Order: sequence, then structure tokens, then C-alpha cells
Amino acid sequence: MSGNVLISPELISRLEHAERVGVFTGAGMSAESGVPTFRGEEGIWKKFKPEELANFDAFMRNPGLVWEWYNHRKQLIGGITPNAGHYALAAMESRHRLFSIATQNIDNLHQRAGSKTIHELHGNIGRNYCTGCGTYYAEEQLALLGDVPKSNSCRGLIRPDVVWFGEMLPAGEWDAAVRAAERSDIYFSIGTSAVVYPAASLPILAKSAGAYVVEINIERTDFSRHADEVLPGKSGEILPHLLAQYARPTISSVETH
Ligand code: OAD
Repeated sequence: MSGNVLISPELISRLEHAERVGVFTGAGMSAESGVPTFRGEEGIWKKFKPEELANFDAFMRNPGLVWEWYNHRKQLIGGITPNAGHYALAAMESRHRLFSIATQNIDNLHQRAGSKTIHELHGNIGRNYCTGCGTYYAEEQLALLGDVPKSNSCRGLIRPDVVWFGEMLPAGEWDAAVRAAERSDIYFSIGTSAVVYPAASLPILAKSAGAYVVEINIERTDFSRHADEVLPGKSGEILPHLLAQYARPTISSVETH
């Protein structure tokens, strides 16, 4: 329970003084909203093969199967709401001069909770684009194009705008996330197993650049030993608790990192 988690006076004091706060999130952040995580006993990759579903070659071989999987995920995500952890991060954003979230999640829940500066490292399931001409298609347009949607202009296959295994991260989002990690006074790694690179290098970068790094997770990870402080437990419980522990005036105009 969050009530039993010991948040150090040092972290509280640092938060009260921090101008620049960076956050890195993974699937555990959305677990309490009802989105399954990828790894662990109940993880998605225990039941499905990433090489058949989250891979460009697999998509070109069998786009129908990949679309079935993403439509299933879209449906799941459409029926859920942000949790208390997402809302706590959105509230924290207005307390610090620079505040940004680098997320591996494609579920849009940070946005829906009201967070403003978000770097989407692995894309967003709500966007789709043509593999041939690059045209973007809104969900409503996609719905009219059948089970294996093709671009109206070039007849190329339309795919979800998410990063698959073996693909580059979107350069702009990645650069901004690196900049934030390198310039943060405090950096949080939340609900991620921190094993998928390059994203997982962000908290390490933040640490080497001098940030006070805090991990929030229900279990220890490869990164735990590098963290300055580990808060064991659910992000949906710990983050609201943390928010209630420190005060800072709301800042009316935030800047970007
Ligand atoms: P993982 O499934 O690898 O890790 C989820 C982490 O969240 C684990 O460390 C859990 O212990 C932790 N966790 C679960 N519930 C939690 C809760 N309520 N509060 C806090 N922590 C909790 O997910 P990611 O690290 O996000 O990439 O995985 C990284 C990438 O691997 C994903 O973006 C995806 C996947 O393959 C692509 O699809 C490219």
C-alpha cells in the first residue's frame, strides 16, 4: 500500500526545489487502468509472439493478422480511462518550470489525463499512416477502409503509427527525451522493466548527467540498483501520495526542456 511506502525527506525537499523534472513511463503505468503489461506471468508476450505481431516483415506477410491484433488493442484501450497515477503526473506538470514525460506507452492515457509535454517514444495507437505514401489516416477514415486498410492515393498498406521491433524511434521524440533526461534535476522511471533499448537508456542517461533518479515499480528491475531511491508499489497509489507530500506554487507558463 502506498501509505506504507517511505518517501524520503530528501525526495520531498528535492521536489520542492526542483525546476526541471523528467519522467519515463512504461506499461506498468497503465496496468491499473486495465492495460496488460508485456512481460511477467500475465504479460502480453507470454501469450502472443512479438515477431508475428510487432514487426514490419510480419505485417507485410500477414497484414490482416496484425490489424486484428491492433484493432483488439484499440478496442481495449478505447474502453478504459487514465488512473490516479496519470492524473498525479498531470498535476505535477504545473508545479515545475520544465516537466516532460517520455513514454513507451502507445495508449494515449497521459494525454487524456491532461499531461502536456509528452514524448511518444513508441508511437501512438490512435494514429495510422500509409507505408507507401506516408499519408496519415484518422480512425474514422480507417473504419471505412476495411479489415486491411489501403491508402486512397497510392493503394499502399496503412499501418498503425507505432514502433515495431527492429525499427528506429521517431527522431524528434527521441532527441527531446534525451535532452530532458540530460537536463533534469529529478528523473522518475515508472512502471517499466527497463529492458527495451534505446528507451531504457534514458534513466541511465539522467543519472549520469546528475539527476536524482527515482524508480516506482511493483518489483525490482535491472535499473533498480542504479536508482537513488526506489519506491516499491503501484504507480496509481504512490504518485498521488507523492503529489500530496510536497507543495509548490502552480506555474502559469511552462517551458520545454
Ligand atoms: P514491461 O511489461 O516490460 O514492464 C512493465 C513493468 O511495470 C514491470 O517492471 C512491472 O513490474 C511494472 N508494473 C506492473 N504494474 C505496475 C503498477 N501498477 N505500478 C508500477 N509498476 C508496475 O513493459 P515496458 O517496460 O513498458 O515495446 O516494455 C517496454 C516495451 O516492450 C514496450 O513499449 C513494448 C514492449 O515490447 C514495443 O512494442 C516496441
